[in-house]
Amino acid sequence: MKSKNKQDKADWSKGRRRRAIVEQRKYLWYPEAIEKYASWLGLKPGMTAIDVGCGLGYLGYTYWPYFGKGGHYIGVDKSEKLLKDAEKGAKVWARGGKAEFKMGDAYKLPFEGGFGDWVMCQTLLMHLEKPKEALKEMIRVLKPGGLFMCKEPDNLSAGLSRQFFSAYEFSHDDFILQAKINLTLHEGRKKLGRGDQSIGNKIPHMLSELGMRGIDIRMNERVHFLEPPYESEEQKQLLKILIKQHTNEKDKKYWIEQGREEFKAGGGNLADYDRWIEIMDKFLAAARKQYKDGTFACCTGSYFYIIKARKPR
Ligand SMILES: C[S@@+](CC[C@H](N)C(=O)[O-])C[C@H]1O[C@@H](n2cnc3c(N)ncnc32)[C@H](O)[C@@H]1O
Repeated sequence: MKSKNKQDKADWSKGRRRRAIVEQRKYLWYPEAIEKYASWLGLKPGMTAIDVGCGLGYLGYTYWPYFGKGGHYIGVDKSEKLLKDAEKGAKVWARGGKAEFKMGDAYKLPFEGGFGDWVMCQTLLMHLEKPKEALKEMIRVLKPGGLFMCKEPDNLSAGLSRQFFSAYEFSHDDFILQAKINLTLHEGRKKLGRGDQSIGNKIPHMLSELGMRGIDIRMNERVHFLEPPYESEEQKQLLKILIKQHTNEKDKKYWIEQGREEFKAGGGNLADYDRWIEIMDKFLAAARKQYKDGTFACCTGSYFYIIKARKPR
């Protein structure tokens, strides 16, 4: 099935999208959590694993120590450029087993039915117009009794929660407007076929409807925490990402325009959107000042789920 929506055509191999799958991956999940999940998932050396929408092979290199010995990892993506770079990277991490990369579409995977012991994805379903169709396809290529795993967020709930930023105190009115903006943007994105940014907590139910069993879910413990003097490497990396995000005028223009289109599609009143941009400008000006002074602090949670299920025998 070929999708016609714009987001499915988005190119993750360059620019701001590529930066996201390189820079934000460094501290995405705590290393000790990965160890815990490997045991929770029941990973074993020698498994055949398919990673759909693999990007640069993040899930492959993260879990390789737990299944890679004698194992077989196949990363599938629609981007040839990312696959080439992922292949180069795998020469370093994929020791003692086999790693390969294939061009392919999440809606029509290049495998016969019942091929893999483990099929997985991370931040793929949230971008697809028809995530349930992709899930169905992932289940098709799984062996009976095989393991499904995905990591997908609920960005809407994160956007609706009260978060701490030292740079700016949002008034109650600001906060209510922010909720309205986020809900409308979310609706608009779905209407434009750009995916469901809050898909994470809906996946267990979809899996159940698709006949999967042993469904279970956990949440990422990661907190986006910054407090001067930014003592940990993790804080230094987050600060770098935020400064880049908050000072790049080209990116800002892009997000404002994309947001306006989505807000309109979601049925919003553009006067609200413009008011929100004014508030964001105030926030950004104050944040930039604090980045310079070295006084910026924040503490915000994320709603990022890891979900597992088994295909019935
Ligand atoms: C947000 S990135 C995630 C990459 C990787 N899973 C990670 O977590 O770093 C989404 C990836 O899905 C790929 N993708 C998007 N739509 C796809 C589709 N229909 N079929 C296959 N890959 C797709 C993109 O090229 C991109 O590499």
